[in-house]
Amino acid sequence: MTKVAFIGLGVMGYPMAGHLKKAGHDVTVYNRTAAKAEKWRGEYGGATAPSPREAVQGAEIAFSCVGNDDDLRAVVLGDDGIFAGLGSGAIFVDHTTASANVARELYGIGKDKGTPVIDAPVSGGQAGAENGVLTVMCGGDRAPFERAQPVIDCYARACTLIGPAGAGQLTKMVNQICIAGLVQGLAEGMNFGIKAGLDMDLVIDVISKGAAQSWQMDNRAKTMCEGEFDFGFAVDWMRKDLAISLDEARQNGARLPVAALVDQFYAQVQARGGNRWDTSSLMHLLMND
Ligand SMILES: NC(=O)c1ccc[n+]([C@@H]2O[C@H](COP(=O)([O-])OP(=O)(O)OC[C@H]3O[C@@H](n4cnc5c(N)ncnc54)[C@H](OP(=O)(O)O)[C@@H]3O)[C@@H](O)[C@H]2O)c1
Repeated sequence: MTKVAFIGLGVMGYPMAGHLKKAGHDVTVYNRTAAKAEKWRGEYGGATAPSPREAVQGAEIAFSCVGNDDDLRAVVLGDDGIFAGLGSGAIFVDHTTASANVARELYGIGKDKGTPVIDAPVSGGQAGAENGVLTVMCGGDRAPFERAQPVIDCYARACTLIGPAGAGQLTKMVNQICIAGLVQGLAEGMNFGIKAGLDMDLVIDVISKGAAQSWQMDNRAKTMCEGEFDFGFAVDWMRKDLAISLDEARQNGARLPVAALVDQFYAQVQARGGNRWDTSSLMHLLMND
């Protein structure tokens, strides 16, 4: 049993912290909206705290999963932040999808105060978090990674150290860049099939056994064809992730023509009120032009 703290009980953090508790760890949670933390305690047991600083006191590992770079700084730095409460030698693992720059910044501040920091963004969505089968991409030093990995394993099916601080976030960017073009291709294929008058259930069934198969096809093609987008990974989050990726590409010189175009398509989805729709809502633009 490990004494841990979890900061940020959103769509992802809530079930992840729940897996930690169910695995037998001693869990204290903090959430900005306290009612969510109380709900979590009612469901899983464990303890709540009124600030990140108090939540992490005595913890061997502190986890966070909040929104973006600014949110991350808000819960880590300052008088009531994670770094103010975490004892020397305790590890900080951040599951937020954020920039590689903020990951390196927090790693540097942590190093000065004896707190190893692992950037550990996840893939697998709400279902992956609820079912405890997330993919976790890590950046940081090997020794703390090896201490944290067995604990992370209670909500992961894969957890890999990719490289130094920031490498986890860079890997998540690769993931999102791959997904952006793939989802647009899937939407175009589905829309083409509908316009051609094909039975799309039969089409999806046969082509998903061939070279076009993907997680997106297995999980999103049918709901795309039905025009259902009110679930899943929000367009607002995808735009945040693509902004981070495009910014990083400006620094490293990588060309991202398709990701940049798809980002603009997502801006159009937002303009239609689809901020919280699933990323498969690129189909909405094709079906409703
Ligand atoms: N949802 C997915 O499918 C998915 C998949 C992979 C990765 N991610 C990434 O995982 C992270 C969390 O996503 P999510 O879907 O769980 O988001 P969410 O449901 O919006 O939850 C965000 C959490 O962060 C807290 N938070 C945000 N800003 C804060 C601040 N300034 N100070 C303190 N707490 C703050 C929120 O507290 P309140 O409850 O008070 O608002 C909430 O607990 C994001 O970086 C996202 O890109 C999400």
